Amino acid sequence: MTNILIVGHGAREHAIGEALVRGGAELYAFMSFKNAGLDELSKNRIRIHSETDFKAIISFCKEKNIDFVVIGPEKPLCVGIVDAIESSGFPCVGPKIEAAQIEGSKIFMRNLMEKFKIKSNVKSKSFKSMEGVEEYIDKMGEVNLVVKPDGLTGGKGVKVFGDHLFSKEDMVNYCTELIDQKRQFILEEKIEGEEFTLQTFVDGENVVSTPLVQDHKRAYEGDKGPNTGGMGSYSMANHLMPFITQEDVEDALEDMKNIVAAIKAETGVKYKGFLYGQFMKTKNGIKLIEFNARLGDPEAMNILPILKTNFVDICKGIINENLASSIEFQKKATVCKYLAPEGYPKSPKKDQLVEIDTKKLKDIGARYYYASVYKKDGQVYTTTSRAMGVLGVADSLKKAEEIAEKGVGCIHGNLFHRKDVGTQSLLKKRIDHMESILSK
Ligand code: AMP
Ligand code: GLY
Repeated sequence: MTNILIVGHGAREHAIGEALVRGGAELYAFMSFKNAGLDELSKNRIRIHSETDFKAIISFCKEKNIDFVVIGPEKPLCVGIVDAIESSGFPCVGPKIEAAQIEGSKIFMRNLMEKFKIKSNVKSKSFKSMEGVEEYIDKMGEVNLVVKPDGLTGGKGVKVFGDHLFSKEDMVNYCTELIDQKRQFILEEKIEGEEFTLQTFVDGENVVSTPLVQDHKRAYEGDKGPNTGGMGSYSMANHLMPFITQEDVEDALEDMKNIVAAIKAETGVKYKGFLYGQFMKTKNGIKLIEFNARLGDPEAMNILPILKTNFVDICKGIINENLASSIEFQKKATVCKYLAPEGYPKSPKKDQLVEIDTKKLKDIGARYYYASVYKKDGQVYTTTSRAMGVLGVADSLKKAEEIAEKGVGCIHGNLFHRKDVGTQSLLKKRIDHMESILSK
């Protein structure tokens, strides 16, 4: 038996825990907030405590005789959880602090891509003060720029001209706001195209890809509204996207391999764990939007439930630096829809009752993952973040979407979701968009 500790409390960690248990793990969970799914999977062997209190995590590992630890979220990774836990003798699936800066600092990431001439890089410049900001905006033209705060922002800090900023004044004001908050930022070239997520398993050298996923960052249907942590995602039975070719995937994967090598060359530290690449296919080829030092949320829910290879073995391969190159997934399509409290992300209604008809969900064949909800007196309530992910898995995208949508119908409360995620009409819009970009 392998005793495995998962750190983290969201739907991604629920999906990770599920894949570990399916692989034969005796699961334990350390989380800042009780996830009902992880509580059940780990047979209540949990500790509710800060996920960045490394001493407490190490004590829990000793007490429970943990064989290794899987880290779900970025926050503990970016402040050195792996360095701390491994120095106490417990191996981890996740990068050390220097390597995790690939997500923790967009300035580090862009500088590294530039230094190592990684093809999918885009033009950018970093700023510590307002000095030179207006000159750069004038030189590039505000319409061609995106503002990105350095450091972690939960996917909500990026502002794109035309989406969130509508004039040079808006852009300068946002930059000033960031400087006032003592945040560095980058001004980055705005690119146009269709986005996709490529998640990989990395053992320090080998980078193994998983099926492509497309996330939906905007809060409302038709890609309207503010950016969120992600409102839903889908993947296709052939593991590609209709508008992304195998060649595109190979270009993206090559750059992920190059970044792993660059991290080692620059910091002396091997990248081990999950590496998430968010790319955009543009008229000028594949471009990198961001790297994350973890699996995506919701994207983890699209790949782990269809994994055929034993996930515990994959984790061991990452730790022991002998990851198998052939990792198999079912040829199934998946659609994940997130239910969020009304008002999310700007003014979410918390402490709202969520009623879940688990029997009906099972009958429909929909899977569900707890995100930020809590239980009190046997009832489930919302917090200020996404509440639950509902997943449909089927032979076709159409069927997977129907299952997810029916599944959402089994969950009641002051919640909303994007009905359009995974639908044929949205997919067609994406295909048409890509065609129009490529024919410009
Ligand atoms: P991020 O937090 O870096 O994933 O960015 C959030 C969203 O902003 C992405 O999903 C894109 O839709 C958009 N975005 C980020 N960088 C760029 C860019 N350079 N050009 C155009 N859109 C971008
Ligand atoms: N779904 C976007 C992320 O996990 O960062």
